[in-house]
Amino acid sequence: MAQVYTNKSLKSIFGIALMTAALGLTACSTSTESNPDVEARQNNMKNWGDAMGVMGDMAKAPDTFDAAVFKEQAAFLAEDAANPWGHFADKAAVGNATEAVWSNADGFRAEADNFQKVTAELNAAAQTATSMDDVKPAFGQVGASCKSCHTDFKAKTD
Ligand code: HEC
Repeated sequence: MAQVYTNKSLKSIFGIALMTAALGLTACSTSTESNPDVEARQNNMKNWGDAMGVMGDMAKAPDTFDAAVFKEQAAFLAEDAANPWGHFADKAAVGNATEAVWSNADGFRAEADNFQKVTAELNAAAQTATSMDDVKPAFGQVGASCKSCHTDFKAKTD
């Protein structure tokens, strides 16, 4: 009797382990993918990437410049620019951030502050822009800010 019981429970433990693996419910993936802070800040960043894409397309083809659309995207970046940083408070919520976010917190804060400054400048320039030329320098500063922060503070994926 004892023998049978043991086999049964081993079987069910094995079954649960397989199911857990199939659903991706490992400790590792919950800490990176299902953490609400990581999700929130990655969502901010994804939306920024989309906005930069819309404006970047106009930069590549200046005759397609649409002042209203550009203004909307620039305003969105400026308004959202302060939002991700509070979601980096928890050291355990690593996501694709590098250790430097916490070990060089001052450097990270400086990058975040600069981003808020350059997106405000882009938004200001966009208000009166009638061509890509009017926003190109400010747009370049925003792109440089994304890149500069990612160099030290975003893990290289892929
Ligand atoms: C002050 C630093 C900083 C600035 C400025 C910044 N990023 Fe990021 N970005 C990060 C960090 C850190 C991550 C990794 C976040 C994570 O995985 O938790 C990241 C991740 C991303 C991701 C991946 C999101 C995902 O789904 O994993 C994209 C896309 C992105 N950033 C785009 C941008 C764009 C576009 C800009 C500029 C408009 C920008 N970022 C500005 C620090 C920054």
